Amino acid sequence: MPITATRAQRVETIADVRALVGKARGEGQRIGFVPTMGALHRGHLSLVDRARREADVVVMSIFVNPLQFGPTEDFSRYPRSIEADSRNAADAGVDILFTPPPREMYREGRITTVNAGESAKRWEGEIRPGHFDGVLTVVAKLFNIVQPDVAVFGRKDLQQASLVRAMVRDLDFPMSVVVAPTIREDDGLALSSRNIYLSADDRLRALTLARSLRAASAAFDSGERDARRIEEEGRRMFAAVPAARLEYFAVVNADSLEPVTEAARGSAAIVAARLGSTRLIDNIILGENDQN
Ligand code: PAJ
Repeated sequence: MPITATRAQRVETIADVRALVGKARGEGQRIGFVPTMGALHRGHLSLVDRARREADVVVMSIFVNPLQFGPTEDFSRYPRSIEADSRNAADAGVDILFTPPPREMYREGRITTVNAGESAKRWEGEIRPGHFDGVLTVVAKLFNIVQPDVAVFGRKDLQQASLVRAMVRDLDFPMSVVVAPTIREDDGLALSSRNIYLSADDRLRALTLARSLRAASAAFDSGERDARRIEEEGRRMFAAVPAARLEYFAVVNADSLEPVTEAARGSAAIVAARLGSTRLIDNIILGENDQN
């Protein structure tokens, strides 16, 4: 059994995390931050690795944020595994683990939320109305609580990463945002806390997402630049697997998530599909296959 040399210090209050971070900052240390909702997997832990390279002290938050779940979504059954998460976080090099209870984050009588704007109403936001307002509100709060020098997000959630970057720019948060590559299973399935919901059959069908992205990427690599034709290549993979219900497949600008007519190196193909009651999303950057 691996022996953990140091334990992440786990705190539940804003005052405690501020005191710890304040002390480290006072000693001249650079603060890295990885926000999560827990049920940690290798994807989350790769962000800790990245944060360790960017900073001296790594703070991780685990908070299943009720504001970003719709009324019919999986908030109450979202996987929670705080004991295993604490161990994995410590082993990965998290120094401070912030696990606030909901009442610490959302006090009675609160009135302010962040409005994620028009671009947050497409793709994920179209299917999950209000989702990104909830994400940006909690992320803004966490940034103000932790006050990191750098925060690390996964490219797996490309639209989220793009909106967080926009918020940091628009609201002048004095910090930078790093977006790290997607970690996958050997067969290509992007790691996600929601993969555990999949039945054995749906786990196989879930590979259609990665396959569709590879098909789009191959079309781009063989010279296709017409975004609609690249999308057709991706969507075709779903035709043979009707139980994998495609929600969207699009070629977009990777920063703005605006659809493009002509694909270029660095454009993104994005996909969302439903397997049973589980929604999965994934994406690939065209022309940069080793980056995903
Ligand atoms: P969560 O889904 O727990 O994801 C936390 C971070 O891990 C996000 O930045 C996400 O993009 C990243 N991540 C997830 N799967 C990944 C993978 N396979 N490879 C690399 N990174 C991966 O995203 C959220 O939580 C929440 O919306 C949050 C930002 C914490 C706000 O509540």
